[in-house]
Amino acid sequence: MTAVLLDGEALAARVRAEVADRVARLRSGGVTVGLGTLLVGDDGPSAKYVAMKHADCEEVGIDSVHEHLVATASQEEIEAVVARFNADPRIHSFLVQLPLPDGIDEERVLMSVEPDKDVDGLHPVNLGRLVMGSAGPLPCTPAGIVELLHAYDVPVEGSHVVVVGRGLTIGRPLALLLAMKRPGCNAAVTVVHTGVREMARLVRLGDVVVAAAGHAGLVTKSMVKPGAAVVGAGTSWQGRKLLSDVEEDVAEVAGWITPRIGGVGPMTRAVLLKNAVRAAERSR
Ligand code: GUN
Repeated sequence: MTAVLLDGEALAARVRAEVADRVARLRSGGVTVGLGTLLVGDDGPSAKYVAMKHADCEEVGIDSVHEHLVATASQEEIEAVVARFNADPRIHSFLVQLPLPDGIDEERVLMSVEPDKDVDGLHPVNLGRLVMGSAGPLPCTPAGIVELLHAYDVPVEGSHVVVVGRGLTIGRPLALLLAMKRPGCNAAVTVVHTGVREMARLVRLGDVVVAAAGHAGLVTKSMVKPGAAVVGAGTSWQGRKLLSDVEEDVAEVAGWITPRIGGVGPMTRAVLLKNAVRAAERSR
């Protein structure tokens, strides 16, 4: 079987074009969409991700403001930047790039973000809105994955999706989103992780498998049901090499598969832009 490539780069380009139209409409009404980012420390990949988010903003006409604190910044210094972003009317939404350095209470920082300015959709109020099925910004990677599956007509409704990984940014909110009673979701969802004894057997039951554990090569060819859609959302680094949670030869059995680069990452950033423009539209 030759898997269809789930090209997140191409779809994200289309989303950026739609966002650019909405940004231009706001600008003609006198509103310049503003996005803030806060990076703490000098983690290479985090700095790169934030730089890419700013490049996307520039492309679609969003004004982005970046704050960078040193790795030794205190909890109070971090929260002071958050408070400043919360109070600044030019910044409609913002994000604090995760992970924060050891010793920082990440949950306290996330809690201090004004929920309606939470572009990541990771504030407990917004995660609560997701649980309740009410409107709010959706977490970027889960929403990006669902959009990518829909764009390629991967059957999700009524299907069995196995999510490998239970992290805050992907696994947990994705499982909630996919199980929701809403068009394009309505799936049976199983969440597994590296502590599950029968992980391989459970993954093989998936019509759709989303690997989001951050554990290189965790999903292998023998674990995938022939014809299943496989999304590699988890990554890890070996030196400067970006590794996927999905082994390359899974493409030999899958019906659809994300490329190692240009699958989920661009869609995460595209949803971030959608959340940013939506925050500005709502603030009018
Ligand atoms: N670090 C890894 N993924 C994310 C994300 O989606 N948002 C933020 N703020 N940091 C991250």
